[in-house]
Amino acid sequence: MVLVTNARLTFNSIPDGHLKPGDLVHDTSNKIDPDTVPLNGGILLKLIVLSPDPFMRTLMNSDGEPPYDLGEPINGFAVAFVVRSEVSTIKPGTHIHTFLPYQNYVVFPNADLLASLPNEAGIPWTAYVGAAGMPGQTAYMGWKEYAKAKKGDVAFMSGAAGPVGSFVVQLAKRDGVKVIASAGSDSKLKFLKELGADVVFNYKTTSLSEVLKKEGPIDIFWDNVGGETLDAALYAANLGARFIECGMIGGYNTGNVGVKNLYHLVTKSISMHGFIVTTLWPKYLEDFYKEVPKLIADGEIKHSEVVYKGFQGVEKALEDMFNGVNAGKLVAVLGDD
Ligand SMILES: NC(=O)c1ccc[n+]([C@@H]2O[C@H](COP(=O)([O-])OP(=O)(O)OC[C@H]3O[C@@H](n4cnc5c(N)ncnc54)[C@H](OP(=O)(O)O)[C@@H]3O)[C@@H](O)[C@H]2O)c1
Repeated sequence: MVLVTNARLTFNSIPDGHLKPGDLVHDTSNKIDPDTVPLNGGILLKLIVLSPDPFMRTLMNSDGEPPYDLGEPINGFAVAFVVRSEVSTIKPGTHIHTFLPYQNYVVFPNADLLASLPNEAGIPWTAYVGAAGMPGQTAYMGWKEYAKAKKGDVAFMSGAAGPVGSFVVQLAKRDGVKVIASAGSDSKLKFLKELGADVVFNYKTTSLSEVLKKEGPIDIFWDNVGGETLDAALYAANLGARFIECGMIGGYNTGNVGVKNLYHLVTKSISMHGFIVTTLWPKYLEDFYKEVPKLIADGEIKHSEVVYKGFQGVEKALEDMFNGVNAGKLVAVLGDD
């Protein structure tokens, strides 16, 4: 019997605005024996790649859906290694991508619905929390379901340099759409140009409404930000525009996502869809895994990632994310901490 540390990242206090040190705690007090811990028909997972994502901040509010429990590990998407298994379809030594508590080892009881990642494309495991993971699924499935893109359409993507936005930009270009993309720094604009975006601008230094007035009207709006950005897009929409409400990161720290121009939904016959990616899994997940890892391996879908280390890396990545520090997907890789 060998007990090892089962470290975890616990939720310690509800942040007031931006996440601050102490809101999450790296707790190393728990122990586990991976060889003998009872699985009760489930599987034992060792987490290797964690996925700091914007929605995690919303689960730290008391009205999150559902909110994180104080004193318990936070949950998020992760890639994990299967250490032991009592499920015939999941072999030890394979890898799983799913929503898990952030601790080194997790006994997952009802694993029958999970499937190991075949990774026939041979891409790095970190990609399975980014372009080949939940953010990539969001872009791929949301675009397929709601964009109704036609060659020559004009699309605007806000928050375009992150893992969701940068994937959507490339899907739009593959469909022959003119892409207007906004982000918060010059290096992000350069990245977006490399992905093929036609018009890029820094929303912090350039008037959003002026750009949309000059380059619009827009037929498709992929919204990652909400608030004033959504208002400007409503104003600049074409008749029959499709609005895809993917996220409202502009309001996650404040809870304020108010908009004024909703009446344009009526006058311009806009269709607006909000969605959570998991609701589209039954329709698209199989196609996603058949298609996307290979597109990434072949370089046909480009992605970028910034790697942080350990549970502290998750905290730092969540902080950097809301300060707009890095382009691409922020990932945290666990060692033996
Ligand atoms: N519906 C779903 O199922 C689903 C699934 C995944 C993600 N999402 C949503 O999709 C959006 C993009 O997700 P992602 O993973 O690709 O994240 P992301 O773009 O990497 O998010 C971080 C970026 O958001 C921007 N940002 C941060 N605070 C902001 C603020 N107050 N106002 C405006 N921009 C701000 C920053 O970029 P700049 O430097 O450009 O400001 C930052 O680098 C998020 O809203 C997320 O919640 C939805």
